[in-house]
Amino acid sequence: MKDKHLSPEYIVTHQGDEYERFHGAVVTPIYENSLFVFKDFTSFTEAMRDETENYIYWRGNNPTVEVAEKKLAALEGGDACKLFSSGMAAITSAILSCVQAGDHVLCVSNIYGPAKKLLTYLEKFHIETTTIFSTETNEIERSIKSNTRVIYLESPTTMTFKLVDLPAVSKMAKQKGISTIIDNTWATPLYQKPLKMGIDIVVHSASKYLGGHSDLVGGVLVTNEARMKELFVQEFQLLGGVMPPFEAWMLTRGLRTLPIRMKQHQESTRKISTFLENHHAVKQVNYPGLPTNPYFELGRSMLEGYSGLLSFELKENNYHAVKKVIDSLAIFQIGVSWGGFESLVLSPNYGNNEQQLKEQNLDPGLIRLSIGLENTEELLEDLEKSLHHVVTTKNKREDIK
Ligand SMILES: Cc1ncc(COP(=O)(O)O)c(C=O)c1O
Repeated sequence: MKDKHLSPEYIVTHQGDEYERFHGAVVTPIYENSLFVFKDFTSFTEAMRDETENYIYWRGNNPTVEVAEKKLAALEGGDACKLFSSGMAAITSAILSCVQAGDHVLCVSNIYGPAKKLLTYLEKFHIETTTIFSTETNEIERSIKSNTRVIYLESPTTMTFKLVDLPAVSKMAKQKGISTIIDNTWATPLYQKPLKMGIDIVVHSASKYLGGHSDLVGGVLVTNEARMKELFVQEFQLLGGVMPPFEAWMLTRGLRTLPIRMKQHQESTRKISTFLENHHAVKQVNYPGLPTNPYFELGRSMLEGYSGLLSFELKENNYHAVKKVIDSLAIFQIGVSWGGFESLVLSPNYGNNEQQLKEQNLDPGLIRLSIGLENTEELLEDLEKSLHHVVTTKNKREDIK
């Protein structure tokens, strides 16, 4: 089949794979070479005319890396993709490609902590940032300054999973000549295609669902051809945080099963979020896939599916209750990151950071779950047993009222 019918399943299975070029190898070999040599000097100088199109050096193009890049560009519906050594490297390059000293970045709601720290760090280069904790388009528009050059978005947002109206925000930003960047890690390109909604640059941490096996760290940046031409020779090559071929090979391997893994994550999380929502010990579940979620309708217009990362807030919203629940879980492992095969649990409440939680608008009873690929019934049982430790006669009574 030629590249006419680009279903996600076709893209992950065949798009970008060139069997004849590699002696019929069904999997592209790993090109573990730092440089490429040329038959004569003229060929070299010709190749150097456009580093974005030719194989010259590791910090440029590589046939193994290209396979994953082609798949991800096609999945996102973008012109071009480059892969980075981490999600943070992709985020840094995306932001720096849009700003210079004296510019302002508007950052919407809870974003991934280190991305926020990066924006604070950029103050030393006279790039200022404002964070607003609303995801409403009107609020975003009101916070724009004359020097705003970027609106940095996550939708759903980190920890709270609120949604931003991406078509409305990108339209408003375009009218004002402001670039928009979104971290699309939560939804994956299968479930949300921000470029099609007018967003300029999409970034991902490939360390989550895209890799999917908790065995690689990587970043993805997808945008249009014109932006990528510049970004390639500047932020990509100069900052140098590029993805090594072995990681790219692993990423392609992970991508092959992305559609079926996401189906399972979604199915399990639908059951688990519903279970949590009806539990005596739980005050609130933050998951846009629940019909009761305030962002459900907006989500239906933007999302084609829901991934497996959610949070919930305990009625007994203090560190001791959070610790009791987390420590009582047997299948869910305690650890950072998410989007892998294994179920994980975390809380931003460390028992010593009350002020920080307030500043980030986070409930002290918030617990984040990444639903893995284990048996759903066993995960439910694990949660049921663990939450039992914080079911009190008081919160049972509250339910009856
Ligand atoms: C939403 C989000 N974006 C970006 C990142 C950063 O990715 P990486 O760890 O690959 O640098 C993370 C990591 O947890 C994340 O959760």
